[in-house]
Amino acid sequence: MASKSAAPKPFWNPSKPVALALTVVVPCYNERANVAPMVAALEKTLAGLAWEVVFVDDNSPDGTSAEAKRIAQTDPRVRCIRRVGRRGLSSAVIEGALSSAAEHIAVIDGDMQHDETRLPLMLQAVQGGADVAVGSRHVEGGDSSGLSSPLRVKLSEAGIRVAQMVTHTSISDPMSGFFLLRRELFDSLAARLTGQGFKILLDLILASPSVLNIVEVPYKFRPRLAGESKLDVLVLTQFAGLLLDKALRGTVPLRFISFALVGVIGVLVNLIVLQLASTAGADFGKAQTIGTVVAMVVNFQLNNQLTYRAQRLKGGRAWRGLALFMIVCGLGAIANIGIATTLYAENGHSLLSGAAGAAVGVVWNYAVSSTLVWRVR
Ligand code: GDD
Ligand code: MN
Repeated sequence: MASKSAAPKPFWNPSKPVALALTVVVPCYNERANVAPMVAALEKTLAGLAWEVVFVDDNSPDGTSAEAKRIAQTDPRVRCIRRVGRRGLSSAVIEGALSSAAEHIAVIDGDMQHDETRLPLMLQAVQGGADVAVGSRHVEGGDSSGLSSPLRVKLSEAGIRVAQMVTHTSISDPMSGFFLLRRELFDSLAARLTGQGFKILLDLILASPSVLNIVEVPYKFRPRLAGESKLDVLVLTQFAGLLLDKALRGTVPLRFISFALVGVIGVLVNLIVLQLASTAGADFGKAQTIGTVVAMVVNFQLNNQLTYRAQRLKGGRAWRGLALFMIVCGLGAIANIGIATTLYAENGHSLLSGAAGAAVGVVWNYAVSSTLVWRVR
C-alpha cells in the first residue's frame, strides 16, 4: 500500500543558501597552540562573510590535527586535512586549495605572523579586478621586522631580487606566503604547479601562461605567536632549485642536478680526507679507502637531507639505506672503472675515457638510489 506522505517540512530556515565566499587555507606543522587563536582571529575579521578555514597538517607530532578537529566538531566553518607520510608547505597549500568550493581562496601562515585583518582588503582588491592580492612586507606601510635574524633579512632580500628577475615581475614580495585569488584561477593553474618547497606564490606566478595582475596589500610581519619556524638553509636551497628548474625549463630533473652536485662535494671530501690520512701516516691504499668511505657517508647524508628530502630516511631505515647506498655506489664505481679502462684501451684518451666512465657511474648511482634506496614514487 503506497502512502502519499507529504515531504517533511524543514525545521530550519529554507531561504536561499549562502554561497561560500572564501576558503582560508592554513598550512601547519607543529602549530597546535596557534589553531584556536587563528580561528578566533578569522572569526573577528571576517564577521558577516561566508567563510571557512582549512588547516592542512602533515601529521604533526604535537597534535595540530587533533586540535583543529576538536574545534571543527562544533564549528562547521573549520575543516582539517591531515596528510600522512608527506611533508611540504607548497604541496599542503595546493591540497587545501583544491579542497575548496568557495569563490575565493586565501593562503595564510598558521603561526599568526601574517596579519589576517588585511584579508577583507585583499578580497576587495580581487573583487575589483586583480588576479592575485598579495600581502606584502615591502610596500609602503609594510614591515618585515618579524624576521628572526639579520641573516634572514639578508637572505630574504637576495631571494626577492632573484625571484623578480626570473618572474619578470616587479612585485616587491614574491616570496610571500600570504595571498588571495579566485578559486577558478587557482584551479586552472593547479596542474602546472611544481608543488616543491616553500614558495607557492612564486610557483603560481611562474605557472601562469599570462602575466598576472597582482595587487600588493601592505602588512606588518609579526613575530610568530607560538612554536618555531620550519624555514632553514635546506628549504632555501630547495627554493634555489625551483628557480633553476624554471630556468632550465624542466629539461634536466632537479633531483639529478642535486644528486650530481652532492657527488662533486663527495669527490672533494674524498680528496681532503685522503690528504689528511696520508699526512697522518696512512699508506695510499688505506688513506684512499678511508677517504672513499667518509665521502660515501657524507654523500648519503646530503642526499638524504637535500636530494631526497621528501623521502628522508630516519632511524633504522637510514642505517639500512646507508648500507644499500654504499653497495650501489660501489657497483657504480666498478662500472665506472670498467668502462673507463675499456674505452682507454681502445682510444688511449684518458680524460674522455675517465669522463665517460664517471658519467655512467653517476647515472647508475642516481637511477638505482632513487628506486632502491629512497624509493621515489
Ligand atoms: N603542512 C605543512 N607542511 N605546513 C608547513 C610545513 C610542512 O612541511 N612547513 C611549514 N609549514 C607551515 C608552518 O607551520 C607555518 O604555518 C607556515 O607553513 C610557515 O612556516 P614557518 O616555518 O613559520 O615559515 P617562516 O615564518 O619562516 O616564513 C613564512 O613567512 C614568509 C613571509 O611571508 C613562509 O610562509 C614564507 O613562505 C613567507 O614568505
Ligand atoms: Mn612563520
